[in-house]
Amino acid sequence: MKGIILAAGKGTRLYPMTKPVCKPLLPVYDKPLIYYPLSTLIQAGCDDILIIVPPGEEKAFSELLDDGGKLGVSIQYRVQPAARGIADAMLIGADFIGNDSVCLALGDNIFYSADWQTKLRCAAENKSGAVVFGIWVENPRPFGVVAFDENGRATSIEEKPRVPKSNYIVPGLYFYDSEVVSIAKNLRPSARGELEITDVNLEYLRRGQLSVVPLERGFTWMDAGTADSLYKAAGIIRSIQSEAGELVGCIEEDAYSNGWISREQLHAMGEELKMTDYGKYILGL
Ligand code: G1P
Repeated sequence: MKGIILAAGKGTRLYPMTKPVCKPLLPVYDKPLIYYPLSTLIQAGCDDILIIVPPGEEKAFSELLDDGGKLGVSIQYRVQPAARGIADAMLIGADFIGNDSVCLALGDNIFYSADWQTKLRCAAENKSGAVVFGIWVENPRPFGVVAFDENGRATSIEEKPRVPKSNYIVPGLYFYDSEVVSIAKNLRPSARGELEITDVNLEYLRRGQLSVVPLERGFTWMDAGTADSLYKAAGIIRSIQSEAGELVGCIEEDAYSNGWISREQLHAMGEELKMTDYGKYILGL
């Protein structure tokens, strides 16, 4: 399964912070925001990853992550020239996806639960159709909202509805079979001029091939797109890490527990960061 991170938004809701540094490279507590979706993809088992970045930003990303070799993964970068919507990632990545299945992660979505990796592996096993998640939120209006029938089957998904049919939203993590490319090619832009990922999910729903996995109420999900949510996310990550005694979004640890790098390689990365608690944690693994 291929992995794609869409990290191409200008982050205008975070101006002036995102004028010199794009959003996915901003810190969320002790690591850059992009580490969180990257950790999600690695935990899901993706070792071939495409990161879609804003124009002019490839260098900044590759200074941070290079070609992924140190983590035992392959990372490539491609530019999204204009904000054409999330589903555009499937067109930009069409040849990268080829005949494979793909997991698409949005660059500003952070997930955490003790059994997150089990859930990810389960979703990744599904080789045909689509798998997305459903999360209960207080205010679903700014998101893709999914409604269920009495048997727990998804009946509708609406993008940013004025009157939401439920409090369950579809977060920014999507598992698709290779059909997603032709589905994306047939999309028309929405009223806001974007190729909507919700329209891709709706097509799978119409085909009877969309599975929506509800996540439990205590599940931690954050969309770190504004100053407030970025600040809140940093506090939540800090308290989860100090309570659980483990790091969230530690890509080096994820690669090591997948068996993609050796203990020596892991510790070499820890050495480079040993002046930080992050590095010390890696050295203690
Ligand atoms: C996007 C998607 C929406 C999804 C959300 C998750 O919203 O369009 O369906 O629920 O990401 O973060 P946007 O980032 O465009 O507001």
